[in-house]
Amino acid sequence: MVDLHCHILPGLDDGPADIEGSVAMARLAVADGIGTIVATPHVGTSSWDPPSQVILDAVSRLRQRLQDDGIELELLAGSELAATADINGLADAGQIVPLGENGRFLLIELPFFGHLGNTERQLFELEIAGYRILLAHPERSTACLDDANLLPKLHDRGYWVQINAGSLLAREGRRARNACARWLRQGLVDIIASDGHDSARRRPVLSPARKPVLKIGGEELWEQLTIKNPARVLDSRRD
Ligand SMILES: [Fe+2]
Repeated sequence: MVDLHCHILPGLDDGPADIEGSVAMARLAVADGIGTIVATPHVGTSSWDPPSQVILDAVSRLRQRLQDDGIELELLAGSELAATADINGLADAGQIVPLGENGRFLLIELPFFGHLGNTERQLFELEIAGYRILLAHPERSTACLDDANLLPKLHDRGYWVQINAGSLLAREGRRARNACARWLRQGLVDIIASDGHDSARRRPVLSPARKPVLKIGGEELWEQLTIKNPARVLDSRRD
């Protein structure tokens, strides 16, 4: 399996404080059956905004450490971009790391509360610039929960949708879990990722979500969300 959304890099955001924490997360992921993790530190928030080179260097260091420790986990660079940031400005300044480093997909975190504001316009401009959009955990966005038409509209526009594995187990509450189940049945979900932050509470694992997904769409859907679609994201290239 591929985990496209994981805060595994040390010291850059609310992920692990040091590289030992990163290694512990890597071991958990491998034990869960994950073969590839895309490291997606927060970028463009008021608290965290690491430059691209800092992210790439941190990925290189952790990759080396995994190799030294014999941990068979492919590690790729990425980022989770705050929709409230000037993402186009960051892109122009070369301060953006797409999922898999060279792909077309940007992982975008919608505001947790309130309406999307000028986010929709910003996403449109990113599309014009040749990027594709992967919306991170819309089940944590009140705009998506309150307006049943919003996510279908964004998905119709060609944006992909990622939900958190833990959300299907009600980690974000029953309302978010029910929304995820509904969106799965409606065919609106493209990717399941861990959004892992540590090796205790927000773990880098996907398999706990397998049972609820199988109930809705069987093995075929599970493979699509955890293997096939993530591979399509990583295979994408900007034109
Ligand atoms: Fe995240």
